[in-house]
Parts: sequence; structure tokens; C-alpha cells
Amino acid sequence: MLRTHTCGELNMQFVGRIVTLCGWIQRIREMGGMTFIDLRDRYGITQLVFNIQGQPDLFAKVKELGREFVISASGKVAERSSKNTKIPTGDIEILVDSLKILNTSKIPPFTIEDNTDGGEELRMKYRYLDLRRTVVRKNLELRHRMAILTRNYMNEQGFIEIETPVLIKSTPEGARDFVVPSRMNPGQFYALPQSPQTFKQLLMVAGFDRYFQIVKCFRDEDLRADRQPEFSQIDCEMSFVTQDDILATFEGLARYLFLEVKGLDPGEFPIIEYDSVMRDYGSDKPDIRFGMKLIELNETIKGKGFKVFDDAELVVGINAIGCAEYSRKQIDELTEWVKRPQVGASGLVYIRYGTDGTLKSSIDKFYSPDELKVLAGKFSVVPGDLMLIMAGKKEKTQTALGTLRIEMGKRLGLIDPTVFKPLWIVNFPLLEWDEVSKRFYAKHHPFTSPVPQDISLLDTNPGAIRANAYDLVINGVEIGGGSIRIHNCDLQKKMFQVLGFTDELAQEQFGFLMNAFEYGAPPHGGIAFGFDRWCTIFGGGESIRDFMAFPKNNSGRDVMIDTPSSISEEQLKELNIKLTS
Ligand code: AMO
Repeated sequence: MLRTHTCGELNMQFVGRIVTLCGWIQRIREMGGMTFIDLRDRYGITQLVFNIQGQPDLFAKVKELGREFVISASGKVAERSSKNTKIPTGDIEILVDSLKILNTSKIPPFTIEDNTDGGEELRMKYRYLDLRRTVVRKNLELRHRMAILTRNYMNEQGFIEIETPVLIKSTPEGARDFVVPSRMNPGQFYALPQSPQTFKQLLMVAGFDRYFQIVKCFRDEDLRADRQPEFSQIDCEMSFVTQDDILATFEGLARYLFLEVKGLDPGEFPIIEYDSVMRDYGSDKPDIRFGMKLIELNETIKGKGFKVFDDAELVVGINAIGCAEYSRKQIDELTEWVKRPQVGASGLVYIRYGTDGTLKSSIDKFYSPDELKVLAGKFSVVPGDLMLIMAGKKEKTQTALGTLRIEMGKRLGLIDPTVFKPLWIVNFPLLEWDEVSKRFYAKHHPFTSPVPQDISLLDTNPGAIRANAYDLVINGVEIGGGSIRIHNCDLQKKMFQVLGFTDELAQEQFGFLMNAFEYGAPPHGGIAFGFDRWCTIFGGGESIRDFMAFPKNNSGRDVMIDTPSSISEEQLKELNIKLTS
């Protein structure tokens, strides 16, 4: 080894010892005849001291050093006169008597410290330098620990990790596929897996019984803070289980990770129906760390001549606690905020409950003070509160108000970042109607089984069928989702029919799975967790990018290696691809 110790391990116990450290120069400070260097490696920072007296050659060498040079320094560990209590090595320093420059460095384009002056784009271009920063490194260390713990837990529970292929077949459901042209099969393409869904089901047919994999998945969809085109899942499948078994097994995984990583017991994991969370929180991934539930007002508010409410499928409101003092300007700003396409509300009505007990609203023309009082009663408000109301199509209005609820929760400081509130959501609708293509889509995927008592609705009212599916949500983030699968060939065929597949198309796309189901498919079900999201939540981060070593930017580009990029004429020719522009 070129070093005797790391930059993170020396303390008072080592005083007097001769050591050799290797690392990168974070900072150089000159004071009188002394030079101080902060030497950094993966484990921490140690202060090196160079004294001009008696060491002119060494001191001349120190003059050559610059930020991010890689050096090896040997010397005696000494107690510091002024200690740094902020770092574990802050009690000591190394009185260097021998220095080797292992490599030089250009001046880095940004400071490699916790608070850097580098913007996002610059840091991504030089991601290998960004990764030297302690904050970023810690995120990847957390990710590593989560992966090891997950593997330990799954192994203990009898799951085996099996790798599934990355060059697979394109299917029309879900997000868009990334495709890969095949040189050996001109005009044909592989697709990268959006998830290993069909393979894990085939592994159940093969009798593996308990499968898992920490696996890369690829989806060509618009990117956000919690979405990347390539991301990792903890993908799992089990045979001979019910929904309850799956929830219990994976609540076990979640508890284990909470305990080992966060050192806490997350309390109970409530199991709540999709309809209830939509009604109460306006979201299928509710943040239940605070209240401010949605209050349905249809019965109280309709029929007073206000057309917007009378014509609406749903009128619903929240109580913005203590916001009666909001100025007209603030309310206008909030109204503009909810009208943005990202929220999609058509407007916002308010009723202000003044601290003097008076009720004032934007709909005074239609509602008498007594009627406003009845409405206020529905909200259980107290003087000083502000009621915010929306109206329109049911689900759209619930969702828009749910988004406003989160925003108000943030603005009012009601969300405690140190608290974790997990919950399971169950009984999702199985299908979603698409007005444009006039057909149903699977809300989860086409292999999800209906709740048994709803199977008969397949012929009569498919839109009302509930899915035997579940999501794990933590603090408003969808961490994972799964379902009990269809394992009966006829039911799977029926499902493809409902989804508008012709028999030929179903056979072409999923024949391999339906054929397999004819050879003794066991009842089975599973779940997949967004591994990057889970790391981000546990690491207290804002974006999953910060928990990936080499993420893509919002346009799906890797600005470091500069991809996607064009390929040569020869490559295109070999692949039998002609570009039209
Ligand atoms: P689903 O599509 O719900 O289910 O995905 C499972 C989990 O993966 C995470 N996730 C993502 N994370 C980062 N970037 C993305 N683009 C992205 N898309 C999804 C989410 C999500 O909950 N095969 C099924 C699972 C099953 O039925 O077993 C599936 O993939 O946290």
C-alpha cells in the first residue's frame, strides 16, 4: 500500500506515530513560515503542516502544489494547538517531512467542498469531480448500504437474486421503450426493459418461488425530480401468496431498512383504499405527515345559483389554517398558481374567517352570511382561518386541490422533514379510460388481477373493476407498487380483449407468457420499489439524481460523456438504418 492510514482515521491515540497518507489537496493556507494543507480522501480530511525551517527543499516542493493535486505525505502525528471540533481528525495534524507528488491537477472548474460554487450543469459535466465532494459521496455510500441491507433481508427471507435480460421485446403498454437495433436481424429491434415484469412471472412458472433483483430499468418518459430514463428497482416476485402476505413481507423489508439506516421505528403502516386517499388527500400518493384533509361540499354548497358550483361534479375545499390575513394580492397569486397547467385548476374560491368572527368570501353575491356560516361549519374552522374551494370534474379537482394542499403544507411549515409516514394504498382502479383513443388502459400493467369479487364486471362495467394492486408511499412519494397477477390463461386473454388487443396482437406481443401459463403457472404476485427514490427519501434529498453516480439531466442527456450522440454512416449502414433528417 502507498499509505499507512486513511485521511479519516487518525486521532489523539496516534500522536507520535509516523504515518503516510495519500489523497487530494482540498485547500492550501500559508501563515508565516508555515503551510497548512487539507488532505482529502474518501474517508475524511486531515491537516498536513509544512514548516519552512530546516526543510527548504520540502518547502520548495510545497510551492509547486495546487488544488486537487494527488500527493503522498509522511510525517509524525502531532496534537493540534487549535483544534477543529467539526471533523473527527480535528485534534491532530501531520508534521510532514516527506512529500511525493503522485499527480498534478488542472485548477478544478468549481470548488470541491460541501458548499460549492459550481452550478448543476457544470457539476454534471465534471461529475467525477462532483463525486469527490463529501455530500455527494455520502449519498452513494448510503445507496451502497441500502443495497447490501436489502440483499441481506431478501436472502434471509429465502429470495434468490436472478438476473434477467436487458435486450428484450418492445411492448405497447406503459411508457415508451428505448429500442436497440439488431445488426444481425436487419430492420428488427430489441427494447430495453421498462421492468423485468414478464421475466419474473416466468420465473414463478419455472418454480423459483421467491425472486428478487436490484435491476436497471429504462423508460423513455418526460423527466422530473423523481424520474430518470434509467433507474433501479428492487424487483420482487413470490408464489403461493395473497396480497396480505406480500404487504407483510415488504413491510418487513421497509421496517428493517428504517431501523438499520435511520435508526427508527416508522410506526404502523396504515392500509388505505385508493378512493379514500383521493377523497381525503386528493392524491394516490398522499403525504400524511399533516392533516388539512379535503372537505366535500356538494350537498351544502350547490343550488344557490352559483353556476360554477351548480354545474360541477365535485365542489371541495381545504382549510388553510391561520391564513385569513392573506391579502388580496396573495390570494390572486395563489389563484394564478393553481391555474398553471401543472396544477390545472380552473379557479379558486375563498372564504375568509376574520379574527373578528366575520365571514368574507369571493362568492358573497350568491351566499348569505348564514349560508357561509353553515359552510364554515363543514370545515371546522376557527377565526383566523381561510377556506379555499375548487370545483369541476371529480378526479381532476381532487388532484388539483391535493396539489394545493401540499403547497400550503409547505408554505405553512406543516411538514416535518424528520418524520416518516409510510402507508399502503390498495384497491386501485384496474383500468383507465382514455378519451382520445377511446379505449381502456391498464392502470398498473395488463398482468394485474382484478379483485376477485369484481371479475364479473369485466363484461359489464370494466371501468368499475378494482385491481388486486398496492403501492407503498412514504412522505408523499410512491416508493413501490405491485399486484397479485393473473395466472389463469383464459382470464389473461380476456384482459387483453378488454384492453383492445386483437387475439393476434396479444399472441404476438405476449404469446410467450400466455403459452407459459398453459404449463402450470402458480398463483403469484410481486412488487417493485424505486431504489433511487427510496435512497433519496432516506438521504433527505430533493432529487434522485443526487443519489445516482452518473445521472442524466432533464433533457435525458449525459453532459459528461455527451450522449445521446450521432453515430457514423458505417454504423448506420451496418444496422440498416436510414435517417430521414
Ligand atoms: P411501477 O411502474 O410502479 O411498477 O414501478 C415501480 C417503482 O419504480 C419507481 N419508478 C421510477 N423511479 C425513477 N425513475 C423512473 N422513471 C421511475 N418509474 C418508476 C417508482 C415505482 O413505484 N413491474 C411493476 C412492478 C410490479 O408490478 O411488480 C413496475 O415496474 O418508485
